[in-house]
Amino acid sequence: MTDQAARYDRIAEGYARWWGPVIAPTAVRVLAAIEPLVEGGARDILDIGTGTGTLAIAAIRRWPTVRVTGIDASGEMVAGARAAADDALGPGDRARFVVRTAFADRLPFPDGAFDAAVSSFVLQLVPSRHAALVEAHRALGSGGRLAHVTWLVGGGPFEPDRVVDEVLDEFGYGPREDGPSSDLASVAAAAAGLRRAGFRRVVATTGELGHRFDVEGYARFIEAFDEEDLFSSLPASKRERIGRRLRRALAELPSDALVLRSPVVLAHGDRP
Ligand SMILES: C[S@@+](CC[C@H](N)C(=O)[O-])C[C@H]1O[C@@H](n2cnc3c(N)ncnc32)[C@H](O)[C@@H]1O
Repeated sequence: MTDQAARYDRIAEGYARWWGPVIAPTAVRVLAAIEPLVEGGARDILDIGTGTGTLAIAAIRRWPTVRVTGIDASGEMVAGARAAADDALGPGDRARFVVRTAFADRLPFPDGAFDAAVSSFVLQLVPSRHAALVEAHRALGSGGRLAHVTWLVGGGPFEPDRVVDEVLDEFGYGPREDGPSSDLASVAAAAAGLRRAGFRRVVATTGELGHRFDVEGYARFIEAFDEEDLFSSLPASKRERIGRRLRRALAELPSDALVLRSPVVLAHGDRP
């Protein structure tokens, strides 16, 4: 069990409700990169770090011919993906999605098992990005394509983050510390990572994830996902006081300050 798997086990519910929907419209953009393969007959698709199944479910709805295998390090996220698929798909389509607990750098599949692989907002979390890319390459057949999207470093400061830090500080918790970022350093770095893992015909481009939060959505994102460790450790009365203060402070911001704009990189490459 990695730290990330344990963390996602704890925050699976908050993720499904308050963060997954924020990143979903950008996540599904990777499907366009494998569309030509599906049109050419690709059937078996691997979704690496499927989370709550966003990409897998979108792929099954988009293409009646494909089967999707989702893997995720977190058992709770896997359970969430199964539940989301049960809700979203009819029985025929549901049978085209299987999901299991596994790590990106140790895929429990034989060489060449998949025609295409996709991944959204996972490669910034894995212990070794190179190992995960090499493993995806191994699991693809010749001519198979991996397409992924993940965060790119940069983007301006986001005012609501400053507000969260100030409110936590008022209650004696000090501003949050940023650890070293595992976001991709550049588009060139995304392309180089794919080439180093053996992919060819590599294409990498920038994009932007935009989302307009409202006060409640952002507060719940902080409490149930981003700062879940802190909030779940607090006595209920303190949690409620901080939550009320946070909502008041966020409501004082101009509404445009709640619009998140974060750079992302979309990249794909083919297994020769
Ligand atoms: C930000 S979520 C993205 C989920 C989904 N792809 C989406 O776009 O909504 C990251 C996911 O990666 C999973 N994850 C983290 N480290 C992993 C690893 N080493 N191998 C497989 N999955 C991992 C987490 O459990 C989590 O479900």
